[in-house]
Order: sequence, then structure tokens, then C-alpha cells
Amino acid sequence: MAENGTAVRNIVVTGGGTGIGLAISTRFAEDGDHVTIVGRRREVLHAAAGELAEKRGLDVTPVVCDLADPDDVEGALPQMPDRVDVLVNSAGSRELAVGAGPHGLLARWRGDFERNVLTAVLLTESLRDRFRDGSRVVTVTSVAALRGGGSYGASKAALHAWNHSLAAQLGPQGVTCNIVAPGTVAGTEFFGSRLNDAELTRRAGRTLVGRVGRPADVAAAVLFLASPEAGFITGEILQCNGGELLGR
Ligand SMILES: NC(=O)c1ccc[n+]([C@@H]2O[C@H](COP(=O)([O-])OP(=O)(O)OC[C@H]3O[C@@H](n4cnc5c(N)ncnc54)[C@H](OP(=O)(O)O)[C@@H]3O)[C@@H](O)[C@H]2O)c1
Repeated sequence: MAENGTAVRNIVVTGGGTGIGLAISTRFAEDGDHVTIVGRRREVLHAAAGELAEKRGLDVTPVVCDLADPDDVEGALPQMPDRVDVLVNSAGSRELAVGAGPHGLLARWRGDFERNVLTAVLLTESLRDRFRDGSRVVTVTSVAALRGGGSYGASKAALHAWNHSLAAQLGPQGVTCNIVAPGTVAGTEFFGSRLNDAELTRRAGRTLVGRVGRPADVAAAVLFLASPEAGFITGEILQCNGGELLGR
């Protein structure tokens, strides 16, 4: 039994080694669930798993995989649990340092599609036969998908359309599929050095609550949609942005 008195669930969190994914993984592991965290960088992933498993005694397994590479995904499948109760697609990123002209555009658009769409789609579709009645798929997109945001926002918006189909296909099996769309979240690797104090203040001013988000804010939204009680919510987009879309 898990800490909260329910049966231990198998959770897979992509991007679970850093930022929002790490906050989500920590919450599930603290509840007593078994958590598999997925990412490309072995040292980052193992450090996160070591912190949670060895130091805190939580049940966390690292799986190194580039989720945009189908060979890598295929190779990682034997390391994933046979039954997946919750899949959280949090892996994703945005690359600004691309060149100009059509080649730069191609690199940016194709890159954002690979980084954000394929990382969710390849693994989720590959794990379909491991979902059971009551399983949950939660995919992290962005307010940029709703507000506009170039190739990055477009790639996240593509996940909204995909999630809708997925929810329709898996609904009859009792599997729910939802989106959490965060606004700016500090304390992750997402912005690199771009999120300085002035930029943080500007972004906080776009919200209705006067602050940017924390990884734990997004984790709380994901945990709710992943809970057994949320079984009548599917195909939805839960915004987690301090009212940023309303406040624009
Ligand atoms: N921070 C924000 O303000 C914000 C706002 C809206 C939405 N989001 C979304 O929230 C999600 C989490 O981002 P974050 O802020 O927590 O940033 P982060 O710290 O950079 O986390 C992204 C994670 O994804 C993993 N990842 C990226 N590409 C991967 C791939 N091809 N295969 C496997 N793992 C991959 C990274 O690990 P490796 O590099 O080791 O692979 C990293 O652990 C992303 O989808 C992002 O688009 C973030």
C-alpha cells in the first residue's frame, strides 16, 4: 500500500530529472508510488534518482532515453513497467539559437516539433497496451499553445489536438488523457540564463496573482488529473498560469 492508503501505482514521468518533471516525480514518490523517470542525460537522471531513492528511500528508477528517437524509445520499453497507471509527458524544450533563413526556420520548426510533440507521442503510443482501466495520461504543454508563441507554441498546440483523439480512443477503456498548460515557471532549466530578474518581474506582471509559477504549482495540477477521483475529466486543458491568459 502507498502512503495515502491506496495501492501502489506505476508512474512514468518524462523529463523527470529536472524542473517541473522532477517536482511531479517527487510528489508521486512521496505518496509511495513507484516512479520511473526518463531523460537523455544519464548523470542528471541518476543524480535525481539517487537523491530521491538513496537519500530519501523513495521508489524511483531512472531510464535514459532520447524520446524523439524511435530506436531509443523501442530500446527503453523493456525498462518501463508492464502496467502503467500514470504517464506524465513533461519532457520538452525550446531552442532559440538557430540560424536565419529557410534553413534556420526548418531547424526551428522541425526541432520544436521533435522536442515537444514526438517526445510525448512516441512513448505514449508505444505504451498503449500497458494502460489499464483507471490509467491516466497527463501531458504538459504551455500557455504559448493558447496565446500564440511561434513554432514552440504551435508544437504544444499540436499536442492539444492529439490529446483530444487519444482521449476519445482510450476513454472506452477507462483511461483519461488531459493537458496541463503552464505559464512561466521559474526554477527549471527551461529558460537557461534568459530568465533574469527584469524578465521575471515582467512575466509576473502578466499574471493576475503577481508572481510566476513554481514547479510545485504544476505538480499539484498534474497530481489532481492523475488521481483516481478525476476519472470523469478527460480531453481537457487545465491552465496553470496565474491567470496569465486572462490578464494579457
Ligand atoms: N518552465 C516554464 O516556464 C514552462 C512553461 C510552460 C511549459 N513548460 C513545459 O514544461 C515541461 C518541463 O519543462 P521545465 O520547465 O521543467 O524545463 P526543464 O528543466 O528543461 O525540463 C525538461 C526536461 O525534459 C527532458 N527532455 C528534453 N528533451 C528530451 C528528449 N528528447 N528525451 C527525453 N527527455 C527530454 C530534459 O532532460 P534531458 O535534457 O536530460 O533530456 C529535462 O529533464 C516542458 O515540456 C516545457 O515545454 C515549461
